[in-house]
Amino acid sequence: MEEIKKKVRAWWDSHPCCGNQADSEWGSKEFFKQVDLYKDTYEPFTNTIARYPDWSGKRVLEIGVGLGKDFSRFVGNGARATGIDLSAGSLELTKRRLGLFNLKGSLCVADAEHLPFKNGVFDLVFSWGVLHHTPGTKKAISELYRCLKPDGGKAIVMLYNKRSFLCAYYRRQYLFSRGWFKKISKVFFPLRRLVPSESKDFCYEKMDSEGLLSACTDGAGNPLSKVYTRKEARKMFSDFRCVKAEAFEHGKSRFFGLLRRMKILERHFGWFLVIEAEK
Ligand SMILES: C[S@@+](CC[C@H](N)C(=O)[O-])C[C@H]1O[C@@H](n2cnc3c(N)ncnc32)[C@H](O)[C@@H]1O
Repeated sequence: MEEIKKKVRAWWDSHPCCGNQADSEWGSKEFFKQVDLYKDTYEPFTNTIARYPDWSGKRVLEIGVGLGKDFSRFVGNGARATGIDLSAGSLELTKRRLGLFNLKGSLCVADAEHLPFKNGVFDLVFSWGVLHHTPGTKKAISELYRCLKPDGGKAIVMLYNKRSFLCAYYRRQYLFSRGWFKKISKVFFPLRRLVPSESKDFCYEKMDSEGLLSACTDGAGNPLSKVYTRKEARKMFSDFRCVKAEAFEHGKSRFFGLLRRMKILERHFGWFLVIEAEK
């Protein structure tokens, strides 16, 4: 396994997705409820996009289940679901969740870039906020294409949007942490209160632009986050039919909450770029 992927796995093992948003006993029922509440508050559109009940009785693969919010909803709505994640630590917690809530689904540690499944088996491949964390994003998309049923198998994939307000803000942080820009940045200081709190705690000066982006998006120490324009995303999905790419805004602060209400801006410059496509 490449060095960077080992780092990605180690990071998610020690920081399962949104686990830090819960203050209940780690792995308890209350813990999972708090994680879900956090995700439902700040990414409420995921539920409408995933349309869990539509996949009842269908074969669903989720790539990168994390703490299993979406996975447990696919299973709870009757899908024959399989979930994978690179992080054994996250998967252990998701297995625990299924047990606590009496749900049944198949889970295994696997790499999105080398899916351990036969060709053409899934009706839906769902992957939310995962494929921008793996070095070979294009390879992972070819893999999910291979595993989808021909003639109508569907992919729903969320990637971070490069042409977004949030990304522009992160880039600004980089620029304004250097040289005389740093001095000017003091003028903009009040604006920092408007964005997610994690981004306030880093030592920007010591990071390169990509490092800063990775840290701002998923926490200090996160080794890899990438961003894509709509055009780049469409190119990676060029083997698919009916490719739709639409952006949704983060609801983590009042500023982004406001943008979410301005639908036209949100659809273009939202942080979450959702690609829906068919094989
Ligand atoms: C930001 S979390 C998203 C988790 C979940 N989809 C959610 O929305 O809560 C990213 C997840 O992707 C997983 N991941 C990263 N690279 C992966 C890879 N190459 N194959 C499978 N999973 C991967 C991580 O282990 C982590 O659990």
